[in-house]
Amino acid sequence: MSIQTIKWNKGVAKIIDQTKLPNKLEYIYCRDVEIMWDAIKRLCVRGAPALGVAAAFGVLLGLKEFKGQDTKAFLKHIKKVCDYIGTSRPTAVNLFNALEQMKAVAFKNQNVSVAKLKAILEKEALSIFEEDRRVCRRMGEFGANLIPNNSQIMTVCNAGALATVDYGTALGVMYKAKEKGKKFKVYACETRPLLQGARLTAWELLQENIHTTLICDNMAASLMKKGKVDAIFAGADRIASNGDTANKIGTYSLAVLAKHHHVPFYIVAPYSTFDLTIKSGKEIPIEERSASEVTNFRGVVTAPANVNVYNPAFDVTDHKLITAIVTEAGIIRPPFRQNIKRIFNHKGQGARTKE
Ligand code: MRU
Repeated sequence: MSIQTIKWNKGVAKIIDQTKLPNKLEYIYCRDVEIMWDAIKRLCVRGAPALGVAAAFGVLLGLKEFKGQDTKAFLKHIKKVCDYIGTSRPTAVNLFNALEQMKAVAFKNQNVSVAKLKAILEKEALSIFEEDRRVCRRMGEFGANLIPNNSQIMTVCNAGALATVDYGTALGVMYKAKEKGKKFKVYACETRPLLQGARLTAWELLQENIHTTLICDNMAASLMKKGKVDAIFAGADRIASNGDTANKIGTYSLAVLAKHHHVPFYIVAPYSTFDLTIKSGKEIPIEERSASEVTNFRGVVTAPANVNVYNPAFDVTDHKLITAIVTEAGIIRPPFRQNIKRIFNHKGQGARTKE
């Protein structure tokens, strides 16, 4: 894979500016936490696992501002920086899990000097980065078995290299299947209103020479009715203890359609996307974004300016509509509540859990 979504180098986080794709491949150099906050808010960096890494690097950027030697004051500052980054986007729990992980390491090492603590936190942020690279490839291994040979599969939004450090969750499964020599074609739903499917998924699948057909979101049903979809793979922004899954708006409609047409519907997500503090999807905070995203696209007006707009960025798919969830520890099948609990009891690190 040649796409490097986010990278840390000598105190600067370099990210691909995804708002410019596919027209231009440009980078943003985040030298302070405000630039990172803005990049997250504007979706220059997006996708749940990438947001976790961006949050961890954002903490490092925020720490650069602290010049004193008092570790107690430094810990206070770390908390302030984490709270600030937490106001950027509410739904992807990976962002909050990374912030919690950084804070936990800081408070565990509260007896060391500020300089030493900065070094420890840099190491921790880099471990979150490396962990993402590792788990995406693991999920790919497990998930590739779910892609039938000579099949046609569908995906929504972008759960690829651009949504992670460099490989992807749902698209990572496709990259691994291709590496294993499987033959398949992909239908990418364009994903209104910000077109992550058209702009990002189509772009990166074509870079990897995967046969890709772009469709408008409202064409999915007719393809399924014609028997042209063998499986659907989507990523996730937050998975509750019972398996209910928040992902990009439109994912829920695909899951309902998949059930009706007897198409398997798979979620691919790492531990860091699970929120075991909540019982069901009802408790997942759903981000509502600006009306202008629906009434405009890149400066072109697409609707009357004074029309009422409803613009939730995510929806929740009921666990009953999900065939299986692919994680780095294997494939979780129903009953989800019991099986999620079991898998986390064995290996569960990274997920948000009760204190
Ligand atoms: O608003 P976005 O572009 O951040 O939404 C991203 C998604 O919904 C992805 O499908 C999800 O984060 C999984 S990414 C591996």
